[in-house]
Amino acid sequence: MKPPCCIYILLLNFQLSYVLVAYTPIPRNSHCATLIGNKLYILGGDTNNTSFVFTPTKDSFFYLDVSATFNMTNIPWADLSNIVGTPIQSRAAVSAGGPNKDIIFLVGGAFENSSYGIPLVYTFDTVKNVWNTPIIKGTQPTRRNSGWSLENRMDILDTIELTWSIGSQLQASTPRDVYSATLLSNGIIAYIGGYGVNGPTNLKEIYLYDTKNNAWETMITVGTIPDARAHRSSVLVLHHQQ
Ligand SMILES: *[C@@H]1O[C@H](CO)[C@@H](O)[C@H](O)[C@H]1NC(C)=O
Ligand SMILES: *[C@@H]1O[C@H](CO)[C@@H](O)[C@H](O)[C@H]1NC(C)=O
Ligand SMILES: *[C@@H]1O[C@H](CO)[C@@H](O)[C@H](O)[C@H]1NC(C)=O
Ligand SMILES: *[C@@H]1O[C@H](CO)[C@@H](O)[C@H](O)[C@H]1NC(C)=O
Repeated sequence: MKPPCCIYILLLNFQLSYVLVAYTPIPRNSHCATLIGNKLYILGGDTNNTSFVFTPTKDSFFYLDVSATFNMTNIPWADLSNIVGTPIQSRAAVSAGGPNKDIIFLVGGAFENSSYGIPLVYTFDTVKNVWNTPIIKGTQPTRRNSGWSLENRMDILDTIELTWSIGSQLQASTPRDVYSATLLSNGIIAYIGGYGVNGPTNLKEIYLYDTKNNAWETMITVGTIPDARAHRSSVLVLHHQQ
């Protein structure tokens, strides 16, 4: 006698819907994100949209696996907030670093109540799932947290040697915050927009920093130039170099 095939189908359906159960992050602003392998890691953020008093999110660390397609009404976020040592912060800078580019480096940022005595740099090993606060050699920069303190000093963190150094200041961008910084595939970082001493900066001038030659250059854009603005993001689409 043949086995009833409908039972198999029911089980399969059950498994599929079980896998899709996901956690939903709290709405936030001023968080940071970095892509390592197929995982987009989101860190920190502020839940208070009416004040500059930092109201931290309770879920301050989670990721999205972007290797497979998913249904936008049920995004498969995975929560990592319970990992011991997860910093509760907003407005930090994060980047992937280390010899295998699999370590998250979290620099600066605002912490609840006060950042006094809090390490400037946290690292998260995405292979071992462990937070650390490494000792970094060289001249430690001041903490930046986008709290209306405008900077234009280029501080460079070598994520393999764990050393701070200071980049060229010659023809550097004017002081600003809440700009976007995009690393192009030729090793140049494009600094676009942001908030300067006179308000939002124009998008006619784009500041380019060449990480290979430690040199700045100003690019004057042409065409339909968007309005001056801050608090925005930018992303490089590698296929077209745009
Ligand atoms: C600000 O947050 C409150 C809840 O905390 C929400 O009701 C409101 O829609 C938010 N406003 C904006 C502009 O996001
Ligand atoms: C946001 O900050 C304001 C001013 O400090 C405070 O009155 C308000 O309760 C805060 N909102 C939340 C959702 O924490
Ligand atoms: C996505 O999920 C919603 C809600 O569960 C469902 O109604 C919709 O059909 C799904 N879309 C796809 C393409 O699977
Ligand atoms: C910040 O201060 C509040 C109120 O005193 C307290 O409940 C909270 O635990 C403090 N947060 C940290 C990280 O110390």
